[in-house]
Amino acid sequence: MNIIMLGPPGAGKGTQAEVLSKKMDLTTLSTGNILRAAIAEKRPVGLNAKTYMDKGELVPDDVIIGIVKDYLETHDLGKGCILDGVPRTIAQAEMLDKMGVRIDAVLSLEISDAAIEERMGGRRTCMKCGATYHVKANPPKVEGICDKCGEKLTIREDDKPETVRQRLAVYHAQTEPIIGYYTEQGKLTAVDGTASVEETSEKLVKALEMLK
Ligand code: AP5
Repeated sequence: MNIIMLGPPGAGKGTQAEVLSKKMDLTTLSTGNILRAAIAEKRPVGLNAKTYMDKGELVPDDVIIGIVKDYLETHDLGKGCILDGVPRTIAQAEMLDKMGVRIDAVLSLEISDAAIEERMGGRRTCMKCGATYHVKANPPKVEGICDKCGEKLTIREDDKPETVRQRLAVYHAQTEPIIGYYTEQGKLTAVDGTASVEETSEKLVKALEMLK
C-alpha cells in the first residue's frame, strides 16, 4: 500500500508518517528529511536546495524527481511506502504516475494557518535522524534530546515565523491544487489534523481500513 501524506507545513505529516509506518510496517520517503540530510553532509544537491528551503520556497521539481528516482532505485518498498512531503506540485504528482508508482490512498491533514503558526513555535527536530517533537504536544523523554538517537534537538531554520508564513502561502498556491487532482481519482480522504497526535493517528488508521 502506497500512501501520500498531504497537508500544509506543520500539519503533522512527518509525525503521522512515523506512527503509521510502525503500525503498518511501511517504509517512509520524506523528501524534506532527505534534503536536510544532504545539507548536513554539505552535498551539492543539499546546498542548492537550502537556498530555496531557507526562503520557504519549493525546491525545483527536477531536483525532487531525481531524489524520488534515486530512492526507488535503492530501496525495496516491501509492503509499501508512505510519501511524506511529496508530491507537492501537480508536475510531481504526474511524475509519480509516469514512474509507475501506484498510489492507493492520499491522506490530507486539515488545519488552519493560524493553528500552524502557533504549533511551529514549539517544534524541535533531530537533524541526525529526522525525528520531530513538540515541546508541549509531543515532548521527548529527556528535554532537548532525541529519544531515538540521543542527538541534541534543534529548531529548524525554516520554522521562523516569517518563513512559516511564506511556506503556507506557497502551500496554498502550489500544493493545494493536488487535492483536486487526487479527489478526481477518488483517492483523497480529508482528516482533521487539529486533534491530538494519538487521536489523529486513530482517525488515519480508520480511514485506511475503510479503503480496504
Ligand atoms: P518538509 O520537511 O517536508 O516540510 P513541510 O511540508 O513544510 O512539513 P513539515 O516538516 O514542516 O511539517 P509536518 O507536516 O511534517 O509536521 P510535523 O509532523 O513535523 O519540507 C521542508 C522544505 O523542503 C520545503 O519547504 C521545501 O523547500 C523543500 N521540499 C521538501 N519536499 C519537497 C518537494 N516534494 N518539492 C519541493 N520542495 C520540497 O509536525 C509539526 C509540529 O507539530 C511538530 O512539533 C509536531 O510534534 C507537532 N504536532 C504534530 N502533530 C500534532 C498534533 N496532532 N497536535 C499538536 N502538535 C502536533
